[in-house]
Amino acid sequence: MATDPSASAPSGADRGTVTHPVPRFPDGFLWGVSTSAHQIEGAAELRKPSVWDVFASEPGRIRDGSTAAVACDHFHRYREDVALLADLGVDAYRFSVSWPRVDSPGGLGFYDRLVDELCAAGVRPVPTLFHWDLPADLDWLDRDTAPRFAEYVSVVADRLGDRVGKWITLNEPAEHTLLGHAVGAHAPGRKLLFDALPVAHHQLLAHGLAVRALRACGATDVGISNSHGPTWPASDGPADREAADFYDLLLNRLFSDPVLTGRYPDGIAELMPGGSRRTDADLEVVAEPLDWYGVNYYAPTRVGAPRGATTESGGLTLPAELPFSVREIEGRPLTDYGWPVVPEGLTELLTGLRDRYGDRLPPIVITENGCSYEGLDDRDRIAYLDGHVRALHRAVEAGADVRGYFVWSLLDNFEWAEGYARRFGLVHVDFETHRRTPKASYGWFRDVIRAQR
Ligand code: NOJ
Repeated sequence: MATDPSASAPSGADRGTVTHPVPRFPDGFLWGVSTSAHQIEGAAELRKPSVWDVFASEPGRIRDGSTAAVACDHFHRYREDVALLADLGVDAYRFSVSWPRVDSPGGLGFYDRLVDELCAAGVRPVPTLFHWDLPADLDWLDRDTAPRFAEYVSVVADRLGDRVGKWITLNEPAEHTLLGHAVGAHAPGRKLLFDALPVAHHQLLAHGLAVRALRACGATDVGISNSHGPTWPASDGPADREAADFYDLLLNRLFSDPVLTGRYPDGIAELMPGGSRRTDADLEVVAEPLDWYGVNYYAPTRVGAPRGATTESGGLTLPAELPFSVREIEGRPLTDYGWPVVPEGLTELLTGLRDRYGDRLPPIVITENGCSYEGLDDRDRIAYLDGHVRALHRAVEAGADVRGYFVWSLLDNFEWAEGYARRFGLVHVDFETHRRTPKASYGWFRDVIRAQR
């Protein structure tokens, strides 16, 4: 377990002063932070298991052998966490609702209390309805999971809809499909490669059905959070360009094309395993109009022609059967996770989305951006966030319609297969005592938000 740096060092929050003010964003721009249920809540014994509980119980799945059974103990400490949000001065808080908790007695009551607490603190609740913690008895390979999801969404919207305006259906279905079902690095740990594609289709269908269920409950501010990042070919040679294009198709376009245009990108239909039930009627559901589009951005990826199994800078090993390989991005600082720091990648991807989708692209909200670094005096995190906020501003100046920016994450938390080893929080969490200590980056973000008022 990590040692507690707060025992010897004061809170870093006072040292987060902004020296070069961040440029002004448009009026009404939303400043926020994000978390997800499985990564922070704990209190696993008070809900049904999710696929992540099962996965983490299997030896060798999580780098530090940990589980999220307790995590940040947010379930019991949510009032303290809402107070941290209020002090930070954010407009909005993006959290996720755990489907297995809602399916358990009293589970929905927790989100009722959390939403009340947020409203009382003047922080707008922005729930994500699925952030990877599928109930363990369900399976995205099964088409029926899509209508089941919509039923659960109706239950949540009925209960919270009087206080929640802004909703997110799914978080990063690309990662959940590829990491969880194609290469097996995430729950449920399947290695189906392209046979995982029905998982993509069923999540897309679930998204569309959820949009309809939310509309039926009166929701008028509905979006999805997709991960995006520029894909840079390793060279100008045709083999590298073709490999990069394919990677881009899977990681950037597999979910955005159907949602925004009602069509799968060319090259995907051929890969769907025979016999999977997909119809044009499904795609109409998938393409239900959205009020806004959420983008999670961390870094670009350099991609070249296949050359056997490759290990990404974050440590993920990609199997040799894939028609691409991931290469290093050289000459850039790396976060503690090993991810390159490339703020202008955010400008590039936002202008690229506008070029690709034109009028079909609704206003964008950056629903995640952040980095993992150790320590309370986290100047590297400040540098990362500062660079990305400026890159975002450049995109806005160039005409991108961006309405908000959420930092991942409020708290250090359970970083999936990495366990507690990667610290993305503006607030340090001691995972033995659960004590929260704001870092320097928390003070920096507070000052950025204040200066925008
Ligand atoms: C994206 C995921 O949505 C989130 O759960 C994760 O912790 C961050 N990326 C950092 O890896």
